[in-house]
Amino acid sequence: MSAHPESPVSPEATPVRRLGVYDTWWTVGSAAVAACLGLTACAWISAHLHVDATLHTAALFVHLASLVLGFGAVLAADYHALLWMTGRCSLSDALVGTHRLHVPIWAGLAGLVASGALLQPDLDSPVTRVKLALVLALTLNGLQAGLLTRRLAGRTGRPLTGRPLTGRLVAWGAATALVSQLCWWGAVVIGFRNSQR
Ligand code: HEM
Repeated sequence: MSAHPESPVSPEATPVRRLGVYDTWWTVGSAAVAACLGLTACAWISAHLHVDATLHTAALFVHLASLVLGFGAVLAADYHALLWMTGRCSLSDALVGTHRLHVPIWAGLAGLVASGALLQPDLDSPVTRVKLALVLALTLNGLQAGLLTRRLAGRTGRPLTGRPLTGRLVAWGAATALVSQLCWWGAVVIGFRNSQR
């Protein structure tokens, strides 16, 4: 028997969707403030830690493993974007692929920051400060990239139902990928340079 058309809708029929980090600029801004505080706390902790040689070696291994995980996933996400731009996959395929890489990207970045704090960074060195600024920039860039992915997802679908992709969104995506690559490669180069001292 079917329900009366005017009967009240049961709570099961209208599931309440929780507010996600990438849903609004307010949530992204809050996450950005938390990321700034977290990175500052890591830098402060690193200046107050005593790390022996064995722990330093273990932390370096975790640092490099996290680099493979995080940066590897970032490169895979950018590869999806490249496939879409060259017409080799649809926008929704590219977005699904990118969405699945969020966990390894953020896990790798968290591993880099946590292990980096155990690597006795020289916080008085301007180069190290630049590296930390790049890490903060790529973190904030990653947060706003999540919001961009949400906006782009609203443009996928059949040509008649999906809203058209604007030049502004494409430029936003290109700028996001460029900032991401510059910051990640910059942090890799400075990390490598610091390890040669
Ligand atoms: C996106 C984030 C990061 C990337 C891509 C990155 C990358 C690297 C790389 C490639 C090395 C060279 C490892 C080697 O060849 O021996 C390195 C070393 C180092 N990193 Fe990072 N890093 C990141 C975040 C951090 C953070 C947040 C800190 C500090 C809080 C940090 C502190 C260090 C230190 C002190 C070294 C030198 C270790 C040594 O040689 O003893 N890194 N990093």
